[in-house]
Formats: sequence, C-alpha cells, structure tokens
Amino acid sequence: MPPRKIIIDTDPGQDDAVAILLALASPEELDVLAITVVAGNVPLIKTSRNARVVCELAGRPDMPVHEGCGHPLERMLITAEHVHGKSGLDGCDLPEPTMPVSDLSAVEAIIHQVRRHPPGTVTLCPLGPLTNIATALKRAPDIAGRLAGIVLMGGGFFEGGNITPAAEFNIYVDPEAADIVMQSGVDITMMPLDVTHQALITREWLDRIAALGTPVSRAVCGWLDFYERFDIEKYGGNGGPLHDPCVIAHLLKPGLFEGRFINVEIETASDLTRGMTVADWWGVSGRAPNANFIAKVDAPAFFDLLADRLARL
Ligand code: RIB
Ligand code: CA
Repeated sequence: MPPRKIIIDTDPGQDDAVAILLALASPEELDVLAITVVAGNVPLIKTSRNARVVCELAGRPDMPVHEGCGHPLERMLITAEHVHGKSGLDGCDLPEPTMPVSDLSAVEAIIHQVRRHPPGTVTLCPLGPLTNIATALKRAPDIAGRLAGIVLMGGGFFEGGNITPAAEFNIYVDPEAADIVMQSGVDITMMPLDVTHQALITREWLDRIAALGTPVSRAVCGWLDFYERFDIEKYGGNGGPLHDPCVIAHLLKPGLFEGRFINVEIETASDLTRGMTVADWWGVSGRAPNANFIAKVDAPAFFDLLADRLARL
C-alpha cells in the first residue's frame, strides 16, 4: 500500500513538533507533501521558524514549508506563550533554521496539492487553529470533494476546555474557521481533549526517550520537560498531554483509538462559550453527524509507537 499523502497544518508548539517528528519518522506510511504554518501558539513568524527548526532537526531541510494566516478570520489573535514559552519551542535551544520558506502561501499550497493529486488521496492534518484550512475551503470550494479527509486536533466536550471552561485553544482562537471546516462535508476525524488528556507524558517514558541519546531525543525531552509544567500545575501531577501527536498516531494506527460518528457544532456567537464544540454524543439533537469524535486511546501503545518512531530519527 503506498504511503498516505498528508499536509500538516501547524502552530509549533512543542506538541506540534513531536507530531511532525512522528510523521517524518514514518515514511512507509506517510508521505508528508508539505508543512503549512498558521498563527496560534505563537505568532506566525515564530511558528514558521519553529516548523523549519523541526524539519532540520529531522534531517528534512527539503520539506516545503508554507506560511499561512497571521490572524483568525474575524478575531484578534490569541496566543499561548504561557504554555509553550516566548519562542513557542522553549526547552531546547536549537540553531536558527537555514532552510527557506516557500514562495507559495499555505492556502495556495493546500489548494495546489489537493488539486494536483487524484481525488481522495490527500489528507489534511491541522494541529492548530483552522484559519488556513477554512480560507482554502472558501477560496477553492472544489477541494472539499477532493480531500480524503481531515484529521484534526481540537475541541473537547466531556473534558471541557483548556483556554476557557468551555473551549479548547485551537477552536477558541478561530471559531468561525472551525465552523466552516465542520460544515464542509469533508470526512472529519476530531481529536479532542477528551482523548488527548489520556495521552499523558510519564517520567518513565521521558527517561526512555532520553536513553536514545540522539539530538532528536535531547530536543524532545527538553521541549516536553518545559511544556508539561503548565498542565501539571493546572491538572495535578499526571504529566502533560501530548495533544497533536494523537493526530499522526491515528493515521499510523487507528486501532489504538475509539470514537463515535456524531454531530459537532461550534459556538461562534456567545462570548461565554465562544469556541465550544457542542458534541451530540447521545444523538439527541437530530442534527446530522459530521465528525468521528475520538474519545479513547490505548495510551501505553500510543507511547510505545511514538518512542519506536522517534528512535528512527
Ligand atoms: O489545546 C491544545 C492545542 O492547542 C494543541 O494543538 C497545542 O499545540 C495548541 O495548538
Ligand atoms: Ca498545535
């Protein structure tokens, strides 16, 4: 079976960085056509720099990196330096990237890649706010019918929110973009906090990664040591959640995850519940299902997969 063609849309972010490494360590299963960056955890100039730092760390300075939207469709940008640090990749100092940014914008790159490949062969993997994806769908409505699917990290329902009591960060930053994506008719798999909060880093796993003794393992340990402190302080000492790598792991081993095809709508009107993903888990609304809402992961197997693949880099 040929590797699955994917575009990773991302706002690195330490967890994004680990997700990118996981994808680049899995060339038999995944053909990463491009990385498109968006403003989110930190402003666009930093997410662009960080994405290229990760590509060079993985030995992929050839990877096309395309810069996208610097702010949400209708709102002011809200960032998350309180989680990821000022650089967005605090925890390990790596050299400034020398690889170039592509001349093609992220939105044009998404449209171009989806149109140039046969229908049903390209999957979008958004790991940040959905501004680039929504803009591409608005500019080129034909791509919705050509996409194999969208596997995204975002939302939360039974787990609540992480940036407000009601909303998860990626959806909260650009709820209008999320609404466009959820209404697009594309085959959507959603990795919400309900599942990513089961993928909690442990000290034993970090020690396993450190024992690899590679530049990648040193970077991952430095990043995650820094990154998890926020969630440990907030939720108690169970380790930080590896949100974004769940997206890539689902592409590699979907059997590790369980979910339900349900209706998910996005709150865009209320200030109190802005960005809430209203997940109709019990099918009471009568609204048509539009997403595979993932609620469980085999966490030990997830972390084994991640460790095995990081060891390849
Ligand atoms: O809420 C978690 C999500 O927001 C992750 O994608 C993290 O990287 C941030 O973008
Ligand atoms: Ca992210």
